[in-house]
Amino acid sequence: MAPPNIVVLTGAGISRESGLHTFRDADGIWAKHRIEDVATPEAFRRDPARVRSFYNARRAGLRDPAVQPNAAHAALAELDARWAGDFLLVTQNVDDLHHRAGSRRLVHMHGELARDRCIYCQVVSPGGGDLTAETRCPACGRAGGMRPHVVWFGEMPLEMERIAAALAACDLFVSIGTSGAVYPAAGFVAEVRGRADTLELNLEPSEGSHLFDEARHGPATRLVPEWVEAMLAKWP
Ligand code: APR
Repeated sequence: MAPPNIVVLTGAGISRESGLHTFRDADGIWAKHRIEDVATPEAFRRDPARVRSFYNARRAGLRDPAVQPNAAHAALAELDARWAGDFLLVTQNVDDLHHRAGSRRLVHMHGELARDRCIYCQVVSPGGGDLTAETRCPACGRAGGMRPHVVWFGEMPLEMERIAAALAACDLFVSIGTSGAVYPAAGFVAEVRGRADTLELNLEPSEGSHLFDEARHGPATRLVPEWVEAMLAKWP
């Protein structure tokens, strides 16, 4: 039997044990900041300095040498490297831990924290340092329009066509470390269920837990390597 085609969706929970905060847990980012102050296009128009300072702090967090890919990121990279069927890892995370772990069939649907985008020419450039009003776009040379390459509330997630095609062709959909609170990602399980097998791996039941064929609860660094090992044992 051919190996199933897999789509994996990840959220902030997979990076929690690497030392990065989630959004909606009690100690999460949205407990300390209001979304409408720091993560919308309106917030950036109203107070770009505040928005840049929020993301500069998160970039500094990502540069902390203690923040490294964990066993769950590593297991997914191994699955990507060894899986003979179609495979796509769709992450909502803007950190680069999947990439650093070695995942290659990877889509950052909410963008990437360590890249910059110019609001004037739209060119995305490598970045990751502190953004200020004086930062110039390396492509068009204008200052004042540099923002992090992340998708804010009210903006369209990235690479949705590639994701839709992978979801349409998948036999197995696995959701890891996400609360299921933010669409369109939260709707992926409803899109595929009935046609594909669905599995949730999360610390606790997510909002959409009941929509999955199976849900396993515990830390990602235990559940994800266990699941990957079982998949590779079944389809070596
Ligand atoms: N292992 C597995 N799951 C975990 C762990 C862990 N160690 N720690 C926390 N979790 C779970 C939480 O129980 C929660 O269900 O991860 C989930 C994190 O949920 P959110 O904080 O809502 O993060 P996420 O689902 O990625 O948020 C989606 O919201 O604000 C936006 O753009 C942001 O991409 C983000 C989107």
